[in-house]
Amino acid sequence: AELTISCIKADVGGFVGHSAIHPALKDEAGRQLEIARRHGLLIDFHVTACGDDLGLLMTHRLGVDNHDIHRLAWDVFDICTRVAKELKLYGAGQDLLKDAFSGNVRGMGPGIAEMTIVERLSEPIIVFFADKTSAGAWNLPLFRMFADPFNTAGLVISPAMHEGFRFRVLDVRKGETITLSTPEEMYDLLVFIGAPGRYVVESITAKSTGVIGAVSSTQRLALIAGRYVGKDDPVCIVRAQGEFPAVGEVLEPFTMPHIVEGWMRGSHYGPLMPCRIGDAHPGRFDGPPRVIALGFQIAEGRLIGPRDMFDDPSFDEARRLCNVIADHLRRHGPFEPHRLPMEEMEYTTLPEVMKKLADRWQPVNGHAVSPEQVAYQ
Ligand code: 13P
Ligand code: 13P
Ligand code: MG
Ligand code: MG
Ligand code: MG
Repeated sequence: AELTISCIKADVGGFVGHSAIHPALKDEAGRQLEIARRHGLLIDFHVTACGDDLGLLMTHRLGVDNHDIHRLAWDVFDICTRVAKELKLYGAGQDLLKDAFSGNVRGMGPGIAEMTIVERLSEPIIVFFADKTSAGAWNLPLFRMFADPFNTAGLVISPAMHEGFRFRVLDVRKGETITLSTPEEMYDLLVFIGAPGRYVVESITAKSTGVIGAVSSTQRLALIAGRYVGKDDPVCIVRAQGEFPAVGEVLEPFTMPHIVEGWMRGSHYGPLMPCRIGDAHPGRFDGPPRVIALGFQIAEGRLIGPRDMFDDPSFDEARRLCNVIADHLRRHGPFEPHRLPMEEMEYTTLPEVMKKLADRWQPVNGHAVSPEQVAYQ
């Protein structure tokens, strides 16, 4: 039978500030999902948190984009928001951008990564959760896992992987997707996913079997809300072994703490720090951005786990390097390239400040700008 893995997450209130989650929210979410499991809607579930984001991992037989599953997630976030309001947690209901549920949580604020699979003889999966960053943060690690032979030995030596993979990429501005095939279209793929603010890897399938291997949340909150409402804080589900990268190949990209957008006020670049679940409480300048990795073996839909995959001294150097990079970037203070470029600051509160100063600018002779340049202002 087909099994669907649904990971739906939202920030419904931070403790303290945007740094972490209050245990009462996780407890409430667990109670609600346990009721759904007893009623037979879910086979199994796991509740987690990364920073101030509450993550609901659920297995069921209803397929992706299922009304009842999405309704359940929305209701859980709604109930948890009530708890958050009682405790006056910070930004209670932050990611619930619409008032009423309308059939599907897509476009309503929560992040969603879902895949339907036929469970293999052994089904290892890794679920990544990030805080203080944007949906495109998985582009680089997903490329490394599924297309870079310097990361993934299996691309070279495993007959099951040697054919390569198909990447489906979403243009978040136009709402269009393109599917590109690696290795032959690797350079074309990089044209787009090297710009993670605009192009986001949505899913990856194995060419040898046509089977899905990874799916990520692509919601861009600022584009839904039209204003700054915090960062997307995305999730990603990756299947491992067999025709997919080995578990160690799935984790390996995070030994290079790549620079992502997010961090303080969603307005800065910073290194993505792989950390233990218990360390996913970004405190320094509301960061640096965090990623946690929860490993599970799936058994007839049951989630056996999680194993805390970054709870391993072999990631200590990556964490140390993150702190070195964080120190260096922080010393730039309000200067680029620590602060995001102007185009990206469009969805922060900076334009409001600039508007106040608009009539203070005096024209200077000989410095007229072309219409193309005006477009940037
Ligand atoms: P083990 O012998 O520990 O099972 O390792 C097998 C392997 O292929 C690790 O990548
Ligand atoms: P979150 O998206 O995690 O709430 O972060 C918002 C923010 O502005 C942190 O400084
Ligand atoms: Mg928050
Ligand atoms: Mg967050
Ligand atoms: Mg957020």
